[in-house]
Amino acid sequence: MSQLLYIFANPKPRGESRTLRISDGFVGAYRDSHPQDTVIELDLYKENIGFLTQESLLMHNVEPGTGRDHPQLKYAYQFLESDKIVIAAPFWNLSFPAILKAYLDYVTVSGITFKYTSQGPVGQCQGKKAVHIVTRGGAYGQEPLKSLELGDRYLKTLFQFLGFQEFTTIAAENMDRSSTDVEAAVQSAIADAQQKAKDF
Ligand SMILES: Cc1cc2nc3c(=O)[nH]c(=O)nc-3n(C[C@H](O)[C@H](O)[C@H](O)COP(=O)(O)O)c2cc1C
Repeated sequence: MSQLLYIFANPKPRGESRTLRISDGFVGAYRDSHPQDTVIELDLYKENIGFLTQESLLMHNVEPGTGRDHPQLKYAYQFLESDKIVIAAPFWNLSFPAILKAYLDYVTVSGITFKYTSQGPVGQCQGKKAVHIVTRGGAYGQEPLKSLELGDRYLKTLFQFLGFQEFTTIAAENMDRSSTDVEAAVQSAIADAQQKAKDF
């Protein structure tokens, strides 16, 4: 039995966000094909994720197991205890919404999700897998725009740092181009996501 953590970052209502329609499709199909698994939903806007405080920084590099009920460290433990991570966020200003970066600062904690050793930092999330679901107004698959896509690249790099072996991306692009049939594109991305969820 696995635990899937479904993290989403969008201030829009769920049904109005293209990204969340696709990620809800993914997670719905995952629930159907993995009925024995636990799914935890984390709506970062509802959680009121804020910035790291001086007090919470003092808790970094703690002994493993310390501060499980701390209002910020509890997210790092929840992340560590999940086997599979789904991150859904729209592409904003060449990256993702700032609230997601604030959340990642909550979970990237030395002593919990990674540790320092004499050989350098070692991720503690070995054997876990993640999927990033995103929609973008334009298309960033090819240069010169490819280099401007900093959101997916950052997430992939951070997850590797934390020890994840598998990181995949489901992206729907050109959402804000007048030539795009947005509803057809979203439906097609939902179908693709539902298929991928079965083997996640
Ligand atoms: C604040 C903001 C910043 C955005 N920045 C970009 C951008 O840098 N590049 C781009 O292609 N689209 C950008 N977009 C467009 C969104 O990525 C696109 O509309 C996406 O489908 C929105 O997803 P949603 O329906 O889940 O909110 C931006 C949209 C917003 C609201």
